[in-house]
Amino acid sequence: MAKNLKDLYIDFFISKKHKKLESASIIPENDPTCLFNTAGMQPLIPYLMGEKHPLGKRLTNYQKCFRLTDLDEVGDKTHHTFFEMLGNWSLGDYFKKESISWSFEFLTSVLKIPVEKLAVTVFKGNEFVPADTESAQIWMDLGIPKERICYLDEKNNWWGPAGNIGPCGPDTEIFYFRSNEDTPEQYDPEDERWVEIWNNVFMEYEKLEDNTFVALKQKNVDTGMGVERVSAILENVDDNYKTSIWKDIIKKIEQVSNKKYGENEEDDRCIRIIADHLRAIVIISADDANIVPSNTDQGYILRRLIRRMIRYAKKLEIDINSNFDREIATIIINQYKKYYPEIQRNKDRILEVLETEKNKFSKTLEKGLREFVKISEILKKQNITCINGKTAFRLYDTFGFPIELTCEVAKEHNMDVDIEGFNKCFLEHQEKSRQGASQKFKGGLSDHSESNIKYHTATHLLHQALKDVLGNDVNQKGSNINSQRLRFDFSYPHKLTDEQKKKVEDIVNQKIAEELDVTCEEMSLEDARKSGAIGLFGNKYGEIVKVYTIGNYSKEICGGPHVNNTKELGKFTIIKEEAVGSGVRRIKATLEI
Ligand code: ALA
Repeated sequence: MAKNLKDLYIDFFISKKHKKLESASIIPENDPTCLFNTAGMQPLIPYLMGEKHPLGKRLTNYQKCFRLTDLDEVGDKTHHTFFEMLGNWSLGDYFKKESISWSFEFLTSVLKIPVEKLAVTVFKGNEFVPADTESAQIWMDLGIPKERICYLDEKNNWWGPAGNIGPCGPDTEIFYFRSNEDTPEQYDPEDERWVEIWNNVFMEYEKLEDNTFVALKQKNVDTGMGVERVSAILENVDDNYKTSIWKDIIKKIEQVSNKKYGENEEDDRCIRIIADHLRAIVIISADDANIVPSNTDQGYILRRLIRRMIRYAKKLEIDINSNFDREIATIIINQYKKYYPEIQRNKDRILEVLETEKNKFSKTLEKGLREFVKISEILKKQNITCINGKTAFRLYDTFGFPIELTCEVAKEHNMDVDIEGFNKCFLEHQEKSRQGASQKFKGGLSDHSESNIKYHTATHLLHQALKDVLGNDVNQKGSNINSQRLRFDFSYPHKLTDEQKKKVEDIVNQKIAEELDVTCEEMSLEDARKSGAIGLFGNKYGEIVKVYTIGNYSKEICGGPHVNNTKELGKFTIIKEEAVGSGVRRIKATLEI
């Protein structure tokens, strides 16, 4: 059953006249504040805010999501870094009645979950928004008894925004009673046997920066259902890792480690971490966003996942110099390629990323661990239980231990780490701080402020100008905008000369001065390519795409939004040009707005 959950879900919503959307890249496009998508709605934010979606008003998909609030939690039976979220959306089309009725129908008729096992919560209201008696009534009409409908406050029944600002609203959550004991008549929010399986958000508000709420242009529905959790319920297991999703992966880990899952809690934790991290590693490195291990942003997360996975493999007494990781990764690749075509396309890269990073790390891992033991023994003799910043930095610099890894190893030795001291050393040694990455990870949401939209349009001009000056092989590798600047990563093997930079800058300013109209057309992906539009990160929108044209100058496949005319942009200045990896350069630029 679980293997088919995604298909059953998509088929069901297609039968309700939804269009299937391909999963977007795991990196939010044009979202400065977020490293990864954490919910299915994130790539849809412009459309929830009122942009027209080329596929219409009813959408469904499974989205690659990644949540990493605390890596330490991964290792238990229910947490994952990467997970898949099923979702269906109404963009100003249907609302509560259809949304709730279809959820009920899918759960009880398609998945055949007995009504007796279900309970729901609805929003009890606050000073801005009234109690959601409408949803409660719809549930009652469908046969959910009063005792199983619970009104809760915004801590429980309000979803979003995904970061600090953006679309949000009250929700109704559906719970399943996961236990072999008799289902109590009354739903009890404190009783952990009730597990949430689906969240239907009635997204009609936008939270602004001053913490107030305004009505969105349209009333939307945004729902989210986690594949892993629901699979565990359908397969009647109390451990996500015992579902068919993980069966072959764990079997392989058992084989290469000579251990059995379910026999020893400490080993089980290692097995789960290896399984979870390898799956995340495959998905992240397969993404068309081209993420490779590095010391910043998504690349840093990827590096941490690979290094942590290797350390736990070592703990499980797997020979880390064997091909164990490749073998497990291949199983994951085969299992997921049907759902994410980029996995097949980028298969070689996944294995290469894994191998290169493993080689880099495994050489020093053992030495680093020995060094750690040596340090801890010396310190313990002096009754010191804290690794100072300098030592933590040496472990990082010389042995490739991400600070999080040092913290974990320290914990195993009942020691602390002076993280602040580490950060100080880190900043002293490297101008660039990766702190931004972890900060960014917590927050996150597309910012559709005026300045963001201007920077977005300027990014299109810059992209084309770079092609004009450096050649057509220049391609976007990443984009990041905040209220102060744009940042654009592109493929190019050399440092730009001052003359080249000046040329690029002049072209962009020329195009701004020409007061070019920005227009948008919808067309098939094939027509878009034929028309010469530049495309980003593969096919995300399905067959019909939006193409933004700036005068006769730039043509890009893009979700928008953009300014109407380049005269709105102000003076464009390149403030920095640097390398970010082999063959990838980065430009930071400002607009005088
Ligand atoms: N966006 C909602 C969630 O993540 C559906 O739960």
